[in-house]
Amino acid sequence: MRLIIAVDGPAAAGKGTLAKSLAAALRLPHLDTGLLYRAVARQMILAGLDPAQDAGETIAQRLQPDDLTRSDLRVPEIDRGASAVATQPAVRAALLRRQRDFATASGAVIDGRDIGTVVFPDADLKLFVTASAPVRALRRFQQLHGDAPPDRDALARLTEEIETRDRKDAERPVSPLRRAEDALLVETDHLDAGAVLDHVLGLVRARFPS
Ligand code: DC
Repeated sequence: MRLIIAVDGPAAAGKGTLAKSLAAALRLPHLDTGLLYRAVARQMILAGLDPAQDAGETIAQRLQPDDLTRSDLRVPEIDRGASAVATQPAVRAALLRRQRDFATASGAVIDGRDIGTVVFPDADLKLFVTASAPVRALRRFQQLHGDAPPDRDALARLTEEIETRDRKDAERPVSPLRRAEDALLVETDHLDAGAVLDHVLGLVRARFPS
């Protein structure tokens, strides 16, 4: 099936994990659009530019596939830089075509903040994945530190960083983080990744019986 499935939601809600496993289960390509903004921020920082002050448009236009696979894209400096550069309309415009081209030919599962509202407002299925900030902080901690026992201060810091980033992403004037009216809400506080995938596959099969 050549479906386009939009997966949006706040930071560290599990949308990337869901989108990747959903794409594999449905044999569709997967695009994590956060990586595009992260790659722009990384290139800017390497060039001595400030993602919060300097224009990132040219860098966004010239991104190469290799830039999306760097191992250092998920460090806190780039979390902040990506959120900052994502407020620039010219950067968003430069990345829009790339996102549409990726999915239009073969269908795709695409995750981000504005996929169901701006990038693919006519997506076949829209999901909005959420979890409470403390749960998301714990998941991010585990992503960063594996099985190490959670440290209370580190969790408090991560919760604050996540809430700050959500606020910035939701309050920016261009393409803010927002649930599309027709997006199905997927709350993941009490579900592990496997249960979220099963739930969503059930939704997909109910809507698109093959
Ligand atoms: O999904 P992520 O945490 O990797 O995204 C990093 C930042 O990129 C996020 O804070 C906001 C921005 N972003 C965006 O504005 N629009 C998207 N479709 C995806 C990410």
